Amino acid sequence: MARKVKDTEDLPKAKINRSSLKKAFRLYEYIGPHKWKLYLGLFFLLLTGGTALGFPMILKDLISTIELKNYDKINNIGIYLILLLTFQSVFSYFRIYLFVNYTENTLASLRRAIYAHLITLPMSYFVQQRVGDLNSRMSSDISQIQDTLTTTIAELLRQVILVIGGIIFLLVISPKLTLMMLGIVPIVAIAAVIFGRFIRKTSKEVQERIAESNTIIEETLQGISNVKAFANEFFENARYKRSTEEIVKNAIRGGKYRGFFASFVIFCLFGAIVSVIWYGIHLASLNQLRVSELFAFILYSAFVGVSFGGIAELYAQVQKAIGSIERVFEILDEEPELLSINEHVEITKRIEGTVSFENLAFTYPSRKEIQVLKNISLSVKKGETIAIVGPSGSGKSTIVSLLLRFYDPESGAILIDGIDARKYPLTELRNNMAIVPQDVLLFGGTIKENIAYGKPNATIAEIVEAARKANALEFIDLFPEKLETVVGERGVKLSGGQRQRIAIARAVLKDPSILILDEATSSLDSESERVVQEALDKLMVGRTSFVIAHRLSTIRKADKIVVIEKGQVREAGTHQELMQLENGLYRSLTNMQMELV
Ligand SMILES: Nc1ncnc2c1ncn2[C@@H]1O[C@H](COP(=O)(O)OP(=O)(O)O)[C@@H](O)[C@H]1O
Ligand SMILES: [Mg+2]
Repeated sequence: MARKVKDTEDLPKAKINRSSLKKAFRLYEYIGPHKWKLYLGLFFLLLTGGTALGFPMILKDLISTIELKNYDKINNIGIYLILLLTFQSVFSYFRIYLFVNYTENTLASLRRAIYAHLITLPMSYFVQQRVGDLNSRMSSDISQIQDTLTTTIAELLRQVILVIGGIIFLLVISPKLTLMMLGIVPIVAIAAVIFGRFIRKTSKEVQERIAESNTIIEETLQGISNVKAFANEFFENARYKRSTEEIVKNAIRGGKYRGFFASFVIFCLFGAIVSVIWYGIHLASLNQLRVSELFAFILYSAFVGVSFGGIAELYAQVQKAIGSIERVFEILDEEPELLSINEHVEITKRIEGTVSFENLAFTYPSRKEIQVLKNISLSVKKGETIAIVGPSGSGKSTIVSLLLRFYDPESGAILIDGIDARKYPLTELRNNMAIVPQDVLLFGGTIKENIAYGKPNATIAEIVEAARKANALEFIDLFPEKLETVVGERGVKLSGGQRQRIAIARAVLKDPSILILDEATSSLDSESERVVQEALDKLMVGRTSFVIAHRLSTIRKADKIVVIEKGQVREAGTHQELMQLENGLYRSLTNMQMELV
């Protein structure tokens, strides 16, 4: 929690101008049906401002009973005061309640909009943003917006009402005294604020000097053997001495300014107040002002002064909030993928699974200087297995990312069943594919939920069947809670091979036409590799499979093997064909791995 406070403290301020305000007002769309709460809240805000301004007036009347000696009015005025207090508290309640209510509803719809938008953004967005960073930045931006909508704006408006209303009352009570006060107090107050800022700056300088001298100690202690070996104790000692002298010099200078400031505040600010009172009494002696009015005048002056002082800080908060709103809308303005997000789309059109890549070239948007794939052409008929092999970093995973349409190719095309992949609706395309990666991410939840990720409306029987086909049932049954076992961060930790089998069960449920195995067994020990491979072999039957493998022995039976090097197809053919190539890359890689075994 403490961290959260600090986060919003660090937020940069935005300039308040026409274009930034226009952006900020886009938030208004998200208030939706709760707009009336905002308006009613604003109305109550006006009322609380009004009642607050009424107080000094009634207190004035109360005091004036002494001057006018009409003591019989005391009780009536007392009742007015109580009534005003009651109104004030009721209005405040509704004001706060309505503001919190409309803010939370607005934020909820904003949060939902951001989330829905974020998960439909293309992969190219995520590779350019550090995702953790994005999340923490968004949460501090949203909490800044929250504070601003619930309290800051209301406070700011209230202060403005109090300042303007206060000045009007001051003018009503005594124009002369008001002009005199406005002539001196703001000047002195502004001077005090500027002076205060200057002092904060000098005290920050002292802090920096102290940090510097601490660095010297730290460095010497860490490198003490160096210091001793070079017999440089003398040098370090002198360095530290100089640094402490700097601190003293700066601190004393700071002290001098603080002293000036104290005498300034005492003399000028209080002097200004004393002059106003003196002039007020003077006017009273001329019968131009009553003492009760002077009393009300001083109260209104305090209202105006305090509110005025608060406005600067509130304004800074609003500036930060506008910055936050701008950043949030930057995310919302990113172009999303065309995906169906509000309903689960059943596979309507089943893809057969014939795939061909034609002269595909690709460069990651986050790394424009390197072309990762150059002129890749390959093809696989429905139901066949194509293996992609090659050194790490050669572009194998990138090829399957393009197949999943995480990115669009720079040039060339991917044809699926003879039709350009870009012509398919994304959801339909991806619903016909499944991937088993090297590292499987399980979501926090039960094993059952994790398997059903491949088909959200699966029945229990289907899930059990999928787990069996994936060779997962044997270990799942060993857990006391079986399919209901909670996994993920707060649950049971599954081994790599077990996670892999859950992923296979997901894929079984999804029943895809195109299957992608990206080093699915590469990080497993040989025993788990055997069970996982067996499950994979079953899964691959009848599907077009793209198999990326590190251990070449696992892909020998593939219908076609494509060897990729530096983003290009070096060799393509069956195992037998490739083994016959003199100086072939596949042959030398295979021979190398055989020697290792
Ligand atoms: N998201 C990414 N952004 C930028 N470059 C990437 C990204 N992913 C991979 N690369 C680069 O693309 C090249 C191919 O990577 P990859 O397809 O993962 O290789 P392989 O799977 O064959 O090991 C590498 O040079 C890698 O650094
Ligand atoms: Mg890879």
